[in-house]
Amino acid sequence: MKLDGRIAIITGAGSGMGRAMAQEFVANGATVVAVDVRTDPVAETVKLLDDGRSVAQTADVSSRADVERVVTEAVERFGRVDILCNNAGVLDDYTPAHETTDELWNRVIGVNINGPFLFSRAALTPMLEQGKGVIINTASISSFVAGGGGAAYTSSKHAVLGLTKQLAFDYGKRGVRVNAICPGAIHTGMTGHLMTADGRNPHVDAAIAATPAGRWGKPEEIAHMALFLASDEADFIHGAAFTVDGGWLLP
Ligand SMILES: NC(=O)c1ccc[n+]([C@@H]2O[C@H](COP(=O)([O-])OP(=O)(O)OC[C@H]3O[C@@H](n4cnc5c(N)ncnc54)[C@H](O)[C@@H]3O)[C@@H](O)[C@H]2O)c1
Repeated sequence: MKLDGRIAIITGAGSGMGRAMAQEFVANGATVVAVDVRTDPVAETVKLLDDGRSVAQTADVSSRADVERVVTEAVERFGRVDILCNNAGVLDDYTPAHETTDELWNRVIGVNINGPFLFSRAALTPMLEQGKGVIINTASISSFVAGGGGAAYTSSKHAVLGLTKQLAFDYGKRGVRVNAICPGAIHTGMTGHLMTADGRNPHVDAAIAATPAGRWGKPEEIAHMALFLASDEADFIHGAAFTVDGGWLLP
């Protein structure tokens, strides 16, 4: 199996793409430390994994203390950290800058970019000691263009690509590969709450209809890319950003 014996930390694993990544990784031989700020959903993910090894961790990715605790406990328990998926994220509900409060700005930046920085910094210690590791950041089409979020979300996701490139540049020769996945509109908890009763999303429906795929993506379609990037098959891929977006960015 592609990830036999690997230990993977996945953030935002209580829902959507993070849960799908956890399932895909365990199905391919990995053991997962599933991290989420919400306790019950991440416990449910581990129940679904049902592999007898994976564990749930309640932690806020924007808290240095939480992040360092998760990495320390992962190393104590499993002896290593092979894969880190910085996937937790929050949307700003398309709030334009003049309506963005300090609280909203700081929350979105805190989760979406401080989180990946804090987790990468902590996980790099065991990865550099091992001389091998993989970091996968869930960025977005909002890493390239406006309109997929508001000011805070778009800014945070642009920053995720900057972090991805710099980490790849600094650590590739020391065995750590770092890449980003840039999803388009994926049907998850993040987007579900914006749906109207008749299943439409006024913020993105027109853009989705204009894409070649013409539909929402599924969390498992992102998990397939994460599996590839986490595996040794992607050994020559450093600092890249893969759009999995049904063609959203084409026009
Ligand atoms: N859904 C989309 O259309 C879409 C598109 C592009 C990118 N993304 C990105 O994909 C990633 C996954 O999103 P999703 O769509 O699966 O969303 P989701 O809401 O289904 O899952 C995100 C998970 O992150 C958790 N989380 C939120 N804040 C956290 C924190 N501070 N610490 C730990 N966990 C926290 C949530 O509890 C939730 O379980 C995010 O980074 C998001 O920005 C989503």
